[in-house]
Amino acid sequence: MSWKKSAKNFKSEVMAAQQDFHLPVLLKQTVGYLLTNPDGVYVDGTVGGGGHALQILSCLGEGGRLITVDQDPEAIQAAKRRLSPFGEKVSFHLTGFQNLPTILRQQGIEAVDGILLDLGVSSHQLDSPGRGFSYRFSGPLDMRMNPQSLKTAWQVVNTYSEKELGSVLHRYGEEKMAVKIARRICRQRKEKSIDDTLQLREIIESTIHTLRPQKTLSRIFQALRIEVNGEIEILETSIRQCINLLKTDRRLCIISYHSLEDRIVKSVFRQYSQGCTCPPRLPVCVCGAKKILKLVTRGALMPSEEEKKANRRARSAKLRVTEKIADSR
Ligand SMILES: C[S@@+](CC[C@H](N)C(=O)[O-])C[C@H]1O[C@@H](n2cnc3c(N)ncnc32)[C@H](O)[C@@H]1O
Repeated sequence: MSWKKSAKNFKSEVMAAQQDFHLPVLLKQTVGYLLTNPDGVYVDGTVGGGGHALQILSCLGEGGRLITVDQDPEAIQAAKRRLSPFGEKVSFHLTGFQNLPTILRQQGIEAVDGILLDLGVSSHQLDSPGRGFSYRFSGPLDMRMNPQSLKTAWQVVNTYSEKELGSVLHRYGEEKMAVKIARRICRQRKEKSIDDTLQLREIIESTIHTLRPQKTLSRIFQALRIEVNGEIEILETSIRQCINLLKTDRRLCIISYHSLEDRIVKSVFRQYSQGCTCPPRLPVCVCGAKKILKLVTRGALMPSEEEKKANRRARSAKLRVTEKIADSR
């Protein structure tokens, strides 16, 4: 079947997904690139509602297996419900993908046939007011993907110094009004703690004075979410671990949703696909760098206009795929 689907088809998927957890982005393309051996062992490191996982499992042969991971218990529950018909072919792990080496070691698996990371948040997380991820509904300033972790958005907003807060909003939201917004938040919280998403939204809106505050609101909420979940801190190491855990001739697919993530993915893929970086005038290599990866997608692959129209959350998605060509160990 062709990857390109009609807008009509996508719309019906969106309708189905409305009662669903999350509409998977770049679904057929991602799974098409990921699977190179139908009887292999694969990892979905961000299973969410199991949309990509369902497609992977449907394409696997008799001997194929899928190990799924998510740090959100609601995601693991939803994925278990959806993927239960696949029985023993699929396993579920409630933890961060940064713990993948441990998960695989515990199962006696040294290397796998493919790994998918579909980064960021699910629609379910964004659309659940009680999780506090969105400025669209009233909710507690929480934003934790893993409810066991200690840091919440409330702590970032109410206890970080003005300088720390400004730096988080600037670094992770790439927001040019970061310093001004941080100053305003710190002034407001002296009168009364900031407990609710809509309270924070009001403070941001009254600082930036614009009729279209959505972009700034998205950037500020994104920055807080990234800080709370340590998303950027773990990414580079996690990608390196994934590369180590791949068999040769097998692939790593990463979907990212903002430039901070994509820059890291691109840079790590580039480092491993470069090989020797010695100046050409040297007669022999002294850097010892080995070419471990080849890039499968030229640049990043983006959703079609039809997919973007049907699924707003696909608009910023970028898929990068790489293949391991030599052992890094
Ligand atoms: C975009 S959604 C994935 C959607 C999924 N591909 C699907 O088809 O339903 C991202 C998921 O990754 C999870 N997540 C984000 N960072 C994670 C991490 N470090 N470890 C494990 N899960 C993570 C989130 O909890 C969320 O459920």
